[in-house]
Amino acid sequence: MKNQILKILKEEDKYISGEDISKALNVSRTAVWKHINELRKDGYTIESSSKKGYRFLEAPDIPDKREISIPQGQMIGADIQHFDEIDSTNNYAKKIANEGCAHGTVVVAEKQTTGRGRIGRQWQSDTSEGIWFSIVLRPEMKPEDLQVITLAASVAVVEAIEETLGIVCGIKWPNDIIIDGKKLGGILTELSAEPGHVNYVVVGIGINANQDLEHFDYEIRQKAISLKMCKGETVSRSNLLGSILTNFEEVYKGVLLGKNKEIIDRWTKYSVTIGKEVKIAYRNMEYIGTAQSVASDGRLIVQCKDGVTREISAGEIQVRGLLGYT
Ligand code: BTN
Repeated sequence: MKNQILKILKEEDKYISGEDISKALNVSRTAVWKHINELRKDGYTIESSSKKGYRFLEAPDIPDKREISIPQGQMIGADIQHFDEIDSTNNYAKKIANEGCAHGTVVVAEKQTTGRGRIGRQWQSDTSEGIWFSIVLRPEMKPEDLQVITLAASVAVVEAIEETLGIVCGIKWPNDIIIDGKKLGGILTELSAEPGHVNYVVVGIGINANQDLEHFDYEIRQKAISLKMCKGETVSRSNLLGSILTNFEEVYKGVLLGKNKEIIDRWTKYSVTIGKEVKIAYRNMEYIGTAQSVASDGRLIVQCKDGVTREISAGEIQVRGLLGYT
């Protein structure tokens, strides 16, 4: 009910009487008043006047379904489940994916208690100043063709950041989002598959949005950056998330249509890895070489100094730039 009242207030954009709202929704004026107070507790600024009624003034920057706007009919984000606190949005997304949730369901949290990064690392996400979310996908694809989805996700993120904030980020292969050699965000893709069949994919994305430097744990302070630190002002998490989801819908459709080359070209435009010297670590072996390009299946092609050209999958191997983040 309170969300229906919010919708009416937003659409009206001027004073509307409690009586008109109560008639429109077939509830008492006292109920309207109670729900308006709840909306205020949620952070909404709603003006009231005994003569004129209520007027919507401002929404809080909470990236939930009330504040994220996506085009009508879009599947990515058609269902958005928002939590104040959760262990990890990826864990919850996997749980509901196992229970049969719809393709495109998004899980977003203000804080994660055990946010996870790639290669078993922790992901500091103990503050609502970041954007922490996971998207459940049900692609009709073979498991071995999935890597391009993660590249597509990083394209959706960097293009959205550029479109909404005018900040141009880099991507370190496969999907670290970088600004000024520091990490702004990352993507953790997890899947459930059987030979030849994918049950679901969960794309978990973390973006440092409004943290100040002191918010980051001491150990990562030299390596982390937020959009606020870069722009010098607070950014709207809801706007950015809406834009990422909308972009993701578009690039994901591209993946399904086999437009891998187009996606990889867009990814390469932002790459800080291609053309750089990299060290690849695989089990106990290390190779140094030059990152040449990304193959149509998403693997990184590295011309190694031992004369061998290696094609590297993100899951298997760690790639380190020799000079910070490349
Ligand atoms: C990386 O190591 O670069 C990947 C970081 C991914 C973090 C996001 S935050 C939302 C989602 N939930 C998690 O536990 N991890 C991902």
